[in-house]
Amino acid sequence: MSTQKVIAVVGCGRIAKAAHFPAFANIENLRVKYACDLILEKAEAMKEKYPDLVEQTVTDYQIALADPEVEAVYVLTPNYAHYTVTMDALRAGKHVFCEKPITVNYALSCEMAEEANRQGKMLNIGVCNRYHKSVEMLEEMNREGKFGKLYHVYCSFRAFRSIPGLGGAFTTKSQSGGGVLIDWGVHYLDLILYVLGGVKLQTLTCDAYCEMAKDMKSYKYKSMWAEDTADVENGTNDVDDLVSGYIRTDKASISFNGAWAQNINKKDTFIDFMGDKGGARLTYCGKFEFYNGETLETVAPEYDIPDMYLREDSAFLESIESGVKNRNHIENILESAKLLDCLYRSAEQRKEVCLK
Ligand SMILES: NC(=O)c1ccc[n+]([C@@H]2O[C@H](COP(=O)([O-])OP(=O)(O)OC[C@H]3O[C@@H](n4cnc5c(N)ncnc54)[C@H](O)[C@@H]3O)[C@@H](O)[C@H]2O)c1
Repeated sequence: MSTQKVIAVVGCGRIAKAAHFPAFANIENLRVKYACDLILEKAEAMKEKYPDLVEQTVTDYQIALADPEVEAVYVLTPNYAHYTVTMDALRAGKHVFCEKPITVNYALSCEMAEEANRQGKMLNIGVCNRYHKSVEMLEEMNREGKFGKLYHVYCSFRAFRSIPGLGGAFTTKSQSGGGVLIDWGVHYLDLILYVLGGVKLQTLTCDAYCEMAKDMKSYKYKSMWAEDTADVENGTNDVDDLVSGYIRTDKASISFNGAWAQNINKKDTFIDFMGDKGGARLTYCGKFEFYNGETLETVAPEYDIPDMYLREDSAFLESIESGVKNRNHIENILESAKLLDCLYRSAEQRKEVCLK
């Protein structure tokens, strides 16, 4: 970046530690003036790891919002805090990068978009796959007509035992907005909408189940992601652990199966793009193979995959400088949030939702 950027980070948990701080350390001209977490040790751990990058640690994000030097705020908290922290930051005149999902439902997501507009500030969402090299290549291939008519996309985001933090925020609908669909499905469905490019949703249907840990104490697992946030004794599990659905759009139709946990004893995570001239299978977060329907050849292109978090963070900071909204601007993500909301509505009402 040509000019220095001063940011504050709210939430120094897993995604901050694994993705964003390592990215920040690779961005020139960037100062993290505040690392903030309700649990001070988590913020301090970031300062210890990145002493040249992180300047101060705080537990109250309002201190960072009151500092006129802070230009942008990263909201890396659990889903339930996205709305409040983002709205406070926008109203304090800051640009905001907020992790996915936007928030727990579509109505609040729209309010966040409106507030960003009102304040004239950037608001980007961490649907990082839009900056994954493979997704970018597939989007370009679709625009160039390599698939011919791309008429159907199927995706699978299924795991054997991956319910995160059972009984904690992840499995409490009022705090997370939902289970596997909003947590994993958001990535798959959003990247599909991105590759298809500007689709209009028409009709959709979804079933959602909460079966594998409905009795939390008898849930059998080998390891649990985010186990530190679990509360099997006193917590709640009222979210989907398996979903299945079908979406019609004005372009391709989309079908999907997703599960945090199910009895198949294997992980199955991929996306099939099916066109009349060719098709592609994308291994989630990996590479793709293209199946040429005319030559009947399979092509496995060779390419490097740069860090998608570094790319999305750099693009956000550059968009602040240029004033140009990029692909992760909230206005470009609202359709995915609407899709998730409608899928949950369909599952609750056990009927098709019509958006035409
Ligand atoms: N883009 C991706 O690939 C990806 C991957 C994992 C998680 N996420 C998203 O990132 C977000 C965070 O997930 P995580 O796994 O890092 O959670 P986490 O629980 O590990 O970390 C969140 C941190 O936020 C802190 N926090 C909560 N409220 C706060 C507040 N008001 N002020 C300051 N700190 C606060 C918590 O103390 C915690 O340390 C979630 O929304 C999740 O969906 C995105």
